[in-house]
Amino acid sequence: MAADFSKRWAGKWALITGASAGIGLELAKLLAAGGTNLVLTARRIDRLQKLAAELSARHGIRVEVFAADLAQTLAPSEIWNFTQGKKIDVELLVNNAGFGAFGYIHEIPAAKMAEMIQVNCAAVVQLTRLYVPAMVERGHGDVLIVASVAGFQAVPFNSAYAATKAFDLIFAEGIAEELREFGVRVCALCPGSTNTEFQEVARQPDRVFRSAETAGKVARVGLEGLAAGKSSVISGAKNQLMTAGERLAPRAFVARMAAKMMRPES
Ligand SMILES: NC(=O)c1ccc[n+]([C@@H]2O[C@H](COP(=O)([O-])OP(=O)(O)OC[C@H]3O[C@@H](n4cnc5c(N)ncnc54)[C@H](OP(=O)(O)O)[C@@H]3O)[C@@H](O)[C@H]2O)c1
Repeated sequence: MAADFSKRWAGKWALITGASAGIGLELAKLLAAGGTNLVLTARRIDRLQKLAAELSARHGIRVEVFAADLAQTLAPSEIWNFTQGKKIDVELLVNNAGFGAFGYIHEIPAAKMAEMIQVNCAAVVQLTRLYVPAMVERGHGDVLIVASVAGFQAVPFNSAYAATKAFDLIFAEGIAEELREFGVRVCALCPGSTNTEFQEVARQPDRVFRSAETAGKVARVGLEGLAAGKSSVISGAKNQLMTAGERLAPRAFVARMAAKMMRPES
């Protein structure tokens, strides 16, 4: 049975990166409905302000917004300074912001890949390192890291992206064990194809996005997994089956099959 997370963070603060769209936006809605106060961050401040006004009016919670570009190395410490300045104790850190870049490795701009590694990996570690010490001190706190089923295998034409998500998954599962004895829970949420702006941002063809789940469903699976004390959770039975099957097959075979599916049309 799924864990009931609805009141787990009631009256406490959650910080969500990438709250302006997709999975992050749905996580904000679910947490707000459970009475969680929110710090929302992303680059598109207009969207965050609109969402903040809606959620605080509907649920009577406090919502703070902070514009930050996580491709900038100083952004995590700016977010930290913002919450420190407001005397906000973050009980739940959601590292959700991320993006992909589809195509041949020699054609994707090098700067874009560097930004992707900064946003998807380095910022995740930086923010976690900033917020976890207070959680350890208090003896409680939660961290949700949005990885991907792409992190379980090589994904040709999405190679650097898949590697960033493998990083997120392995990082989350590792610190989940390190921090368990301090009362801090960490869970990696691994979605498969999900209907968000991701596909458009990554410039992926439609055909690689079959049987996509809704962002609302994926967000719920992540919060349930975290509340249940799981160190990782895969959204969707098909995705669970796929990752289980991949483990049994030779890795090179899995990569070759994925290449067939992902290859850009010439
Ligand atoms: N959709 C999928 O199929 C799928 C599958 C597996 C995993 N995921 C993961 O799910 C997470 C959320 O993605 P999504 O599907 O919800 O995509 P999305 O709709 O494109 O949302 C991405 C969010 O990340 C933020 N973001 C992107 N670059 C940023 C930057 N440089 N600085 C700060 N924020 C930034 C965006 O905000 P701004 O643009 O306003 O900054 C937006 O709020 C990502 O980590 C992604 O890897 C997605």
